[in-house]
Amino acid sequence: MLSIKQLQEIITNEIDQLQLPEYPAELYEPIRYLLNLGGKRMRPVLTLMGCNLFSDGIQGAIKPALAVEVFHNFTLVHDDIMDNAPIRRGKATVHEKWDANSAILSGDVMMVNAYELLMQVPDSKLRDLLTIFNKTAIEVCEGQQIDMNFESREYVGVNEYLEMIGLKTAVLLGCSLQIGALIGNATTEEAEHLYQFGKNLGIAFQLQDDILDVFGEPEKFGKMVGGDIIANKKTFLLIKAHELAQGENKANLERWLTTKVFKTEDKVKAVTEIYDQLNIRKLAEIEMQHFAEKALFHINQISLSESRKQPLVEFAEQLMVREH
Ligand code: IPE
Ligand code: IPE
Ligand code: MG
Ligand code: MG
Ligand code: MG
Repeated sequence: MLSIKQLQEIITNEIDQLQLPEYPAELYEPIRYLLNLGGKRMRPVLTLMGCNLFSDGIQGAIKPALAVEVFHNFTLVHDDIMDNAPIRRGKATVHEKWDANSAILSGDVMMVNAYELLMQVPDSKLRDLLTIFNKTAIEVCEGQQIDMNFESREYVGVNEYLEMIGLKTAVLLGCSLQIGALIGNATTEEAEHLYQFGKNLGIAFQLQDDILDVFGEPEKFGKMVGGDIIANKKTFLLIKAHELAQGENKANLERWLTTKVFKTEDKVKAVTEIYDQLNIRKLAEIEMQHFAEKALFHINQISLSESRKQPLVEFAEQLMVREH
């Protein structure tokens, strides 16, 4: 069995070797730029881990793992346009460095590249993998649209929020693992448990992302801190604050949510203070832990030795304490 570190190295080498045309530069340069900025590359590692759980050979999972990572990078380029985000992985976002048109088109090419990579699996597996991938890709778009819709809605419930992050973020983690498992010849049932492990872990992961968007250190986080507050994103933090705030806090929160003209740092500071007073970070962490435990339940349903499952358990634990 390979360690998380060994799997990460395989992915890094493979991404370094991806070949892209030079012309037109405005189309391909953003792709090279974003892929070379790295990121955690956890989805392709999950695909390899999903495969390695059932099979000692992981060669067949490498291209599909890259497919998932390139697809993820496509969603980031478009997400940053939608979220009006200036920074990604500690550097200017693609639409800032180039422009929105380049970001749209290079994102489109990345999506097609993802399919080209996925197609490099044996024909006997292609249809099943494509079916899973397509379903996931559409769900991610659904989640993204719902996330946008929520920005202008006054009230969103926790369950609606959880469903939204399940779509925009968690299904791709589930899919990454499930694809790996099927390539490693897992049974449908085993692959489904691994999908559920990934999906619940993905929900915990997005909760953590929402926490870091408020409380992270910009240098480590690699993204702008406070972006969710500025955009009135209905994160778990905001939903809980809305639910718990009373008196002056309640009036202030409502004012910040409806004021159109403000200095961004003032709004971020004021809303963060309300979160602090209501102990919102702690509540979000408890929720995150709850989904991490749900994830582990599904790992326990797979009847393989504990040592075989250890890397996935370790991966989940590391994700819960990340700072970026
Ligand atoms: C960012 O994903 C988008 C979310 C779902 C929160 P990652 O945090 O995995 O981003 P990178 O790939 O490591 O930069
Ligand atoms: C992103 O959610 C989900 C997708 C990219 C599909 P966010 O908008 O919270 O991700 P970041 O924080 O920009 O990475
Ligand atoms: Mg977004
Ligand atoms: Mg975003
Ligand atoms: Mg975020």
